[in-house]
Amino acid sequence: MKKKVTIRDVARQAGVSVTTVSQILNGKGQRFSKRTREHVLELRDKLNYVPDFNARNLILHSSQTIGVLVPSMSNSFFSSFIQGVQDKCRTREIMPLVFGANHDEKLERYYLTQLVARSVDGLIIASSTITTKTIDEILRPAHLPYVLFDQNGSRGGDRLEVDDYQGGRLAALHLASLGHRHVVMVMPNDATTNVHQRLAGFVSGLEEHHISFVPDRDVVSAKLTKRGGYEATKAVLERQPTAVFAANDEIAIGLMRGFKEQGVKVPDDISVMGYDGIDFDEYVTPALTTVQQPTHQIGAAAVQMLFKRIDNSAIELQRVFLPVQLISRQSTAKLK
Ligand code: RIB
Repeated sequence: MKKKVTIRDVARQAGVSVTTVSQILNGKGQRFSKRTREHVLELRDKLNYVPDFNARNLILHSSQTIGVLVPSMSNSFFSSFIQGVQDKCRTREIMPLVFGANHDEKLERYYLTQLVARSVDGLIIASSTITTKTIDEILRPAHLPYVLFDQNGSRGGDRLEVDDYQGGRLAALHLASLGHRHVVMVMPNDATTNVHQRLAGFVSGLEEHHISFVPDRDVVSAKLTKRGGYEATKAVLERQPTAVFAANDEIAIGLMRGFKEQGVKVPDDISVMGYDGIDFDEYVTPALTTVQQPTHQIGAAAVQMLFKRIDNSAIELQRVFLPVQLISRQSTAKLK
């Protein structure tokens, strides 16, 4: 087997020390002449030198990785979020290690412990099952920087938030403007704080238009999945609403299939709107009206916050608040 080219080989051929090569290759070689820097870089390419990350990490005191824990990998809301994470990570040659454990608390704790043991530089956590207690037990003792967002409602720490209250309000105002007065909302009965914010905003928007909405009567329970929405079809139709607001797009898409099977036409018989703005929305028939979260931006902003905390653990607690917007498509229409 061909012997792996080491940093010593590059240094020997360049006629400089290993430290000089290391500093130049790590972008810290400004004190060396332009000629030396160019020569080292040329030799790196000529010899096909690939740095040994373990050695490099020991010098930099960094694993150049971050951990990302999301509730579900199958929901394209989170894939788009992860793209934002990746794009931002690339700007610093950081590798994100992404895990989704489908709300399995044991599995999430396992991933978290493994990430800490592998010395990731920091963590972004969206999962609700990583509680304040888990953070206090696992992350704080390891002095590991972290950013919380979305379904994770733990106290303390840097947090990125989306204006879910306004999102719910926008949904209500949109349905009210189309003349709907009998609406239901579909959401999990063990909903996380961000979804409760959507409900609170929805109720307030309806109140502005004097539309009666009693959560105990007008909220139908469903998981945040297509299956959850599909299975909620009967319970929604029993309430005979003219419009339904789903807590996320997956529920809305599941409902649309359920309605079709029951011979209920969207939007002629019932208007449907979702929340998130996933890419499927434009490809279902009719295209789904939704409240768009800035998903890619959320990923990039969460990484940016984490970098700031990694660079300086003493900065003030960070709070970033991002807006949402209504995207009106064909699944909602004026009440006939
Ligand atoms: O679709 C996934 C949902 O879970 C999104 O609404 C996101 O905000 C999260 O809460």
